[in-house]
Amino acid sequence: MIPVILSGGSGTRLWPVSRKTHPKQFWPLVSDLSLLQMTCQRLQGYAGIQPPIVVCNSEHRFFVAHQLEEMGQQDAAILLEPVGRNTAPAIAVAALHARRNGNDPVMLVLPSDHLISDPDSFYRSLEEAEGLSAEGYLVTFGVVPNRVETGYGYIKAGSKLSEDMDACSIDRFVEKPALAEATSFVESGAYYWNSGMFMFRASRFLDELERFSPDIFSGAKAAYDGSTRDLDFIRLDEAPFAGIPGNSVDYAVMEHTDKGVVVPLDAGWSDVGSWSSLWELGEKDGFGNVTRGDVLALDSENCYLHSDGRLLAVIGVHDLVVVDTPDVVMIAQRDFSQRVGELVSELDDVQ
Ligand code: GDD
Ligand code: MG
Repeated sequence: MIPVILSGGSGTRLWPVSRKTHPKQFWPLVSDLSLLQMTCQRLQGYAGIQPPIVVCNSEHRFFVAHQLEEMGQQDAAILLEPVGRNTAPAIAVAALHARRNGNDPVMLVLPSDHLISDPDSFYRSLEEAEGLSAEGYLVTFGVVPNRVETGYGYIKAGSKLSEDMDACSIDRFVEKPALAEATSFVESGAYYWNSGMFMFRASRFLDELERFSPDIFSGAKAAYDGSTRDLDFIRLDEAPFAGIPGNSVDYAVMEHTDKGVVVPLDAGWSDVGSWSSLWELGEKDGFGNVTRGDVLALDSENCYLHSDGRLLAVIGVHDLVVVDTPDVVMIAQRDFSQRVGELVSELDDVQ
């Protein structure tokens, strides 16, 4: 099985730490390893795993190469995108690379913005998925929702594929529903969250992409066929890649295919999308504060306090996110921290 790690997102909701030039997946936000490195490390515990294919923006190539090398993954293939065109083209070029030399491996597609606290349970889900992918299914991994969330895809599970399996057929896949719909999905108890991880044979994915999004398929093929070597990197051909209509795998394939199945994932999955998610995940002091760096908090509760250098001191505040970096201080009510992306879109020159 070949892992494909998608590392091209910009993580704007974690601004001001996450920047275009140095996005969130390359920062050690929850441990001494970056999110990308934690993704690599998690894979190393699974039997029969091959070196990964990492797809990232050309600007970030040296971060990726250096961070993979630190993890002993110098055999990884690194595919460079000239511009971001979302996840469907990124997975397509990885699938074309995996298929070179007539191979047709099972691919495990992984985002680089997630945490999993129970790797053994993750591996059990992978084992079930591997058999199903080899049979020609497109596997999604479903997480039981614990809140209403409009930023995720939702999967309505159908019937079990067989009595001795946890996997189910997919009745419906809905990417990022509006609030009312997301609320009804969660209340119904019939929906999983899509974890953003997928598993399928390279050829099966490419066939489904060609069927439902032929423009993405043909653009990705031209960009891969015209790719060149640059040091150890594989540089996708710029003009055809830039001409691909951007779309996510969820809209381009998963909402349409009838070959999707869902394998439940109960492995302490969490998405590291915003400062409030880092507060939820973090180790709290006796007052519910999560701190990173040099921080002094007095009579303050339930805050996320992050300093990249100088001392950050707070008194008598609660439910705040304070993030101090060399050139920006960002202060938000914790409940508003999902909206940091709105702020960033007004600040393109500061990014
Ligand atoms: N190479 C590359 N190129 N990677 C990309 C690009 C791109 O243009 N765009 C995004 N990525 C990477 C991100 O870095 C991340 O690791 C992964 O692909 C998923 O992209 P996101 O932008 O984070 O997607 P999302 O969070 O909005 O939605 C997806 O994940 C949710 C779970 O967190 C969907 O799959 C949802 O259905 C899912 O619920
Ligand atoms: Mg995400």
